[in-house]
Amino acid sequence: MIGSGYVGLVSGACFADFGHDVVCVDKDAAKIDALLAGKMPIYEPGLDHLVSSNVAAGRLRFTTDLTEGVRGADAVFIAVGTPSRRGDGHADLSYVYAAAQEIAGALDGFTVIVDKSTVPVGTGDEVERIIREANPDADFAVVSNPEFLREGAAIDDFKRPDRIVIGGDDPRALEVMRQVYRPLHINRSPIVEMSRRGAELTKYAANAFLAVKITFINEIADLCEKVGADVQDVARGIGLDNRIGAKFLHAGPGYGGSCFPKDTLALLKTSQDYDAPQRIVEAVVGVNDNRKRAMGRKVIAACGGDVRGKTVAVLGLTFKPNTDDMRDSPAIAVIQTLQDAGASVRAYDPEGMEQAKLVLDGVAYCANAYEAMEGADALAIVTEWDAFRALDLGRVKSLLSAPILVDLRNIYPRDVVEKAGFAYHAVGR
Ligand SMILES: NC(=O)c1ccc[n+]([C@@H]2O[C@H](COP(=O)([O-])OP(=O)(O)OC[C@H]3O[C@@H](n4cnc5c(N)ncnc54)[C@H](O)[C@@H]3O)[C@@H](O)[C@H]2O)c1
Repeated sequence: MIGSGYVGLVSGACFADFGHDVVCVDKDAAKIDALLAGKMPIYEPGLDHLVSSNVAAGRLRFTTDLTEGVRGADAVFIAVGTPSRRGDGHADLSYVYAAAQEIAGALDGFTVIVDKSTVPVGTGDEVERIIREANPDADFAVVSNPEFLREGAAIDDFKRPDRIVIGGDDPRALEVMRQVYRPLHINRSPIVEMSRRGAELTKYAANAFLAVKITFINEIADLCEKVGADVQDVARGIGLDNRIGAKFLHAGPGYGGSCFPKDTLALLKTSQDYDAPQRIVEAVVGVNDNRKRAMGRKVIAACGGDVRGKTVAVLGLTFKPNTDDMRDSPAIAVIQTLQDAGASVRAYDPEGMEQAKLVLDGVAYCANAYEAMEGADALAIVTEWDAFRALDLGRVKSLLSAPILVDLRNIYPRDVVEKAGFAYHAVGR
């Protein structure tokens, strides 16, 4: 497993748990040192136990030495990052290509190179070319195997996926992939085989579609506010239709995270390169970008339209609960909008504060949710961690200097909050 981040580490640990022999490689020595010392470099529920038990069983190892990891492997997974490239939003493939180059020199015997990173159509062709050029005698095949796990539920998603997508046409490689995934197939997870390009595009189409769904319900939420409807009723009313489905219909502050923002942008770049405009996705990207700052303005409006000199307590910083991942979190734009308007921000997040400190300046980071509220002029809930779902509203009211609650995740019933004496502002309700 080349790259031991959210995807590489979870996939590696799960494959080991299924009985395979796994070596997780990362060029970040601090990450590997932490793993060797039994410390998890990321927060993901259940991961520490999964890793430690498989290390103890001798099936999972860590190294910075790529050659050591690749030698003798039947399959080498590339799970390095593919962030947005600065300037044009295309996927930055430099880590993938660098990994391919390094892998080429370490191959011995027939090896399947598996692209698990999310990469634009045609990347598999380029990985194949790089390896062939660097090591003309190598016996290998490149397949695409995009990953669909969600942070926060990554282990369960990996072990019980809705489907496994494998793209490639080399029969030997496909057989190795079927063996690698056989333990999951027994759980009846369907394996969908297709062309390599089809698999590469499937990942982007999946993420773009989910981003469309979220953005659609967010715009419906705005309309609900204008017409006096409740978006949660509407979402339930449409979500029970099997053709639509209830998931990804939660109105909120806009999608963020390490995948949707960069993957929608990369899909647009591909669509431009191939002259096949994706206008729906274009609209979604624009609408979602606007929404994040609009949610900051919503908090300002709840405070009476002016927050200069005021303090806002913010609960939740990560882009979703059960992760420490701050990449493109809506909380960043919400907090920056508040700060731009002259507010001070006191914040708390159960797992994300170390990462948040790297991206957000001038925030008072607090030890717990109630400490963040002390003396604040309003409370904004930005990420729906379970710990924020049942706050002691009496205590909240006594700590705030004004009883204003802005619930950007719709986790409270309006009547309960209003009965407790708050001015309550939600999304689309
Ligand atoms: N995070 C998710 O929820 C998720 C879900 C599905 C797919 N993906 C995709 O999976 C890929 C990886 O994402 P991630 O979130 O795990 O990234 P990450 O940044 O958490 O991890 C990537 C790791 O790769 C390492 N790395 C980079 N180049 C290397 C090299 N040459 N040799 C060894 N290690 C190297 C980095 O040091 C880093 O630890 C991306 O393409 C992403 O889009 C992510």
